[in-house]
Order: sequence, then structure tokens, then C-alpha cells
Amino acid sequence: MNAEFRINGVRLETDRLVLRAFEMSDLDDFYEYASVEGVGEMAGWRHHESRQKSLEILELFISEDKTFAICLKENGKVIGSLGVERYGMEEALTEFDGYKGREIGYVLGKDYWGRGIMPEAVKAVIGYLFEVCDLDFLTCGYYDFNSRSKRVQEKCGVKPYRRLKMETRLGTEEPGVLNLLTNSNKDITFEFSHPETLIFRD
Ligand SMILES: CC(C)(COP(=O)(O)OP(=O)(O)OC[C@H]1O[C@@H](n2cnc3c(N)ncnc32)[C@H](O)[C@@H]1OP(=O)(O)O)[C@@H](O)C(=O)NCCC(=O)NCCS
Repeated sequence: MNAEFRINGVRLETDRLVLRAFEMSDLDDFYEYASVEGVGEMAGWRHHESRQKSLEILELFISEDKTFAICLKENGKVIGSLGVERYGMEEALTEFDGYKGREIGYVLGKDYWGRGIMPEAVKAVIGYLFEVCDLDFLTCGYYDFNSRSKRVQEKCGVKPYRRLKMETRLGTEEPGVLNLLTNSNKDITFEFSHPETLIFRD
């Protein structure tokens, strides 16, 4: 089942990054990376064509309080986001009944790609969700065309779980892979449903 999650003012620090809730003053930084074509498109949403669009999404981020702003420690600039989303198909994925989980999604400004920044952010959030929030599992996915995101997930230790068609926010469906990470502090053995899409059989 989906766990309750709110950032609630938490700040996570890594060597190069601070992760914290979004604030209204982040609008310029947010629009700067979200308006670049080819960033959101890799994650299933269209790049922002106006500051108004970024403002609407920023207000949503702030009210929902589940999306971390990824900030560079050296200058405080917001260069990306990492959402602790609800995973989908909750009723169909009966293996997760009685276990608490969420899905991770992320985007990084194009100028910062290729420096290992997202794996650093994702690992910090995984550590927080497992060790402090006591979640049992996390999912995260990527579309087949997104080999960079696949690499991020490999580096973070998640395992291929299901081959699925996944919806985009553009109203289309794309084939992709959903990955799974189980909290290794716990003794969990899932009884998997829907073998027709299953990859993971640990
Ligand atoms: C996917 C994404 C988060 C990767 O973040 P990152 O911090 O660049 O991750 P890494 O530095 O670990 O690089 C991952 C892979 O990208 C590729 N890469 C490296 N440098 C790159 C560059 N300058 N430009 C593009 N891709 C590059 C490499 O294949 C790298 O894997 P490697 O380290 O094994 O060589 C980032 O590309 C992004 O935000 N993309 C658009 C949104 C998106 O895809 N979100 C995920 C949706 S599932």
C-alpha cells in the first residue's frame, strides 16, 4: 500500500547537495530548467512554455509537500526535483498489500547531467525513506528510451521488477521498466502477482 508521506520541513544533505521542500522563491530556478525542451519529455511531461505553467506546478509542489527541491550546496541554486510519489496500480499489485511503499521520480536541469548528481540525491532519499520513515519498499521506473535514467536506477541498486506500458502526462503510453527496491533492514519476501509482466524473481 502507499505510505503517507510529507516532507514536513526535513532537509537532507549530501556532499554536494541539499534536498528540501520547494518554496515560492524557487520559481526562477524552476522555470529555468523546466522550460528546456528534452528534460520533462524524458519523464513524461512537456517542457514549460511559460512562467505561469511553472508557477502552477510550483504551487502544487508546495501544497502537496512530497517533492524535494535539489539544491546545489555551493550556491543554493535549485537544479532539479525529486518526488516521493504514490505508486500506481495499488489494487492490482497485491504483493504490496500490508507493506508500506512509494515511488520515486526525478528530473535534473540539463546543464548538470553526467556528474552523478541524481544518483547522489536518490541514494540520500532512499536512505531517509528506509531508515527514518521506515518504508518497506520503493519503486521507480523509466521509459525504454531513457537509458540515462536506467543508469541512475542501476547505480542506486534498484532491481528490474516489471515490464509495463506506463502512462505519460501527455496522455500517451510508453513501454518501460518498473524497478523495485526492498528495505534490506527488514526480512521481506513478496508473493508476486501478475506473472505475465514480472521480471524480478528473487
Ligand atoms: C536521468 C537524469 C536524472 C540523470 O541524472 P544525472 O545526474 O545526469 O545521472 P548520471 O550523472 O549518473 O548519468 C547517468 C547517465 O547519463 C549519461 N550521461 C553522462 N553524461 C551525460 C551528459 N553530459 N549528457 C547526457 N547524458 C549523459 C551516461 O550514460 C550516464 O551513465 P554513466 O555514468 O554510466 O556513464 C537526467 O539525465 C535527467 O534529468 N533527465 C531528464 C529527466 C528524466 O529522464 N527523468 C527521469 C525519468 S524516469
